Amino acid sequence: MHPLQCVLRMQRCQSWGPLASVSWVLLRTCRAHSGLPSTACSSPERQQEDGVWKDFSSRLATGPTFQHFLRHASVPQEKPSSEVDDPPPYLTVDELSGRQRKVYLETYGCQMNVNDTEIAWSILQKSGYLRTSNLQEADVILLVTCSIREKAEQTIWNRLQQLKVLKSKRLRSRVPLKIGILGCMAERLKEEILNREKMVDILAGPDAYRDLPRLLAVAKSGQQAANVLLSLDETYADVMPVQMSPSATSAFVSIMRGCDNMCSYCIVPFTRGRERSRPVASILEEVRKLSEQGLKEVTLLGQNVNSFRDTSEVQFNNAVSTNLSRGFSSNYKTKQGGLRFAHLLDQVSRIDPEMRIRFTSPHPKDFPDEVLQLIHERDNICKQIHLPAQSGSSRVLEAMRRGYSREAYVELVHHIRESIPGVSLSSDFIAGFCGETEEDHFQTVSLLQEVQYNMGFLFAYSMRQKTRAYHRLKDDIPEEVKLRRLEELITVFREEATKANKAFVGCTQLVLVEGLSKRSATDLCGRNDGNLKVIFPDAEMEDVTNSGLRVRAQPGDYVLVKITSASSQTLKGHVLCRTTLKDFSTYC
Ligand code: 5AD
Ligand code: SF4
Repeated sequence: MHPLQCVLRMQRCQSWGPLASVSWVLLRTCRAHSGLPSTACSSPERQQEDGVWKDFSSRLATGPTFQHFLRHASVPQEKPSSEVDDPPPYLTVDELSGRQRKVYLETYGCQMNVNDTEIAWSILQKSGYLRTSNLQEADVILLVTCSIREKAEQTIWNRLQQLKVLKSKRLRSRVPLKIGILGCMAERLKEEILNREKMVDILAGPDAYRDLPRLLAVAKSGQQAANVLLSLDETYADVMPVQMSPSATSAFVSIMRGCDNMCSYCIVPFTRGRERSRPVASILEEVRKLSEQGLKEVTLLGQNVNSFRDTSEVQFNNAVSTNLSRGFSSNYKTKQGGLRFAHLLDQVSRIDPEMRIRFTSPHPKDFPDEVLQLIHERDNICKQIHLPAQSGSSRVLEAMRRGYSREAYVELVHHIRESIPGVSLSSDFIAGFCGETEEDHFQTVSLLQEVQYNMGFLFAYSMRQKTRAYHRLKDDIPEEVKLRRLEELITVFREEATKANKAFVGCTQLVLVEGLSKRSATDLCGRNDGNLKVIFPDAEMEDVTNSGLRVRAQPGDYVLVKITSASSQTLKGHVLCRTTLKDFSTYC
């Protein structure tokens, strides 16, 4: 086996706190672990592989120079999509090519990961890979992973056991199967994954997807390869995700990455790095393309979507301080200058008045009045705000380092409801955080009752290494207590959401049709402005935009639905007519 080769690569390194680690690129031979005898080789492709391997090994022995890595020290923000990276000195353009190998991508976790999957695919597609949705025919299997809670990681470890079997049963006549871990888990655990599961061939952190063709080329020769560098400026601005489903009505557009908040329980700042925003111009270009493709809804995505701040041009960088929500503070020094979220929202919503605009996931601190005002005024910005509270106890909120008290949060809720009448609210809560007493838990229950959210995402606390809570606090709530509290929160949330949603009964809602309901072939399913699922029978109706023609709703149509019943998660009703977003807003 070749000696372990570690190459330190200098980049604009993260310069604070525990993130200020030296990032690394790891190339490691592990032919012994690949399960391949070094001589047996039946297919022509395998013979070619072996030739490549020998040639590659000799070139690797002389190795890339330090100068090479300095030359590639900084990832450019914008690069024309036609431009292909120079191959590193130990690989040829041909070796970097996917040569029509089939990639199977599997996504775990949040919407950012779904978007990252499409970014990774877009990069691999340009490099000559094909995509498959059939695991059995895959030559490369990539898991886009999540680390937010222990359970999310356990799911990946279990999945790797199944893939291990698949890899060991791979026919010798086929090219060797390669398995990669992408995203947060790769970033958090780094070489621990390679050591624990020798069948994993590549690791790529959330900022290293551009490097996938190189990592896979290295892996082809039987080595493990990893890139878990975090970047200060990678936003994949020029990588347009590939729109997978031609019948899709909505798309996600990533506008920023990373998080500077450092809530004490959260691993995200460590796996996804510092906040950085994509230039406004490239976001607008992507939204325009989606509008031309006929999409009717765009959700702007980011770990901290409303702290968006485009500093890509000198003229944006004035001395104007970022406005926060009233009564809120941040864990970092006030940021100055840059084009802010209100500006972006304004521009995006002007592109296509028939396109609904949503955004997730925001932080409550970043809702200055100009953002609320814009949501209120602009017809196609959905009146729906996710306002993650995490706890209803000011004491716990302080331990979580959320930057607000219960009182400030409740005041913001009132202010939002006054500014945007009829707004739909959702939230995230954590049950059983370090030191949470029954009284603290009761405060959370009472917040759920006070606010009456339309949607909620509730979790039991899961201690994550590296976080502030891991270092400074004690995970002292027994598992059964966490689960009991979580159950109580879920029950109260459902009761309150049912009450809130029942207020829609008798009202008419503008629904964007998505397609057939999963539960019944005679029903259609769509979403109202507040993002609640609406189910209604597939019936003929009048098209008010087309001189009263009789039509049936298609995905992407706006229809009016009269609501007849409501539960904690769904509204049901009957369809009245087909219309447009603009007509509905005028009519209201
Ligand atoms: N344990 C449980 N839930 C967590 N979240 C983030 N970190 C943790 C953790 N360590 C939840 C928060 C966040 C959502 C995305 O996940 O509620 O808003
Ligand atoms: Fe995690 Fe807090 Fe950042 Fe959200 S705002 S990603 S909870 S650190």
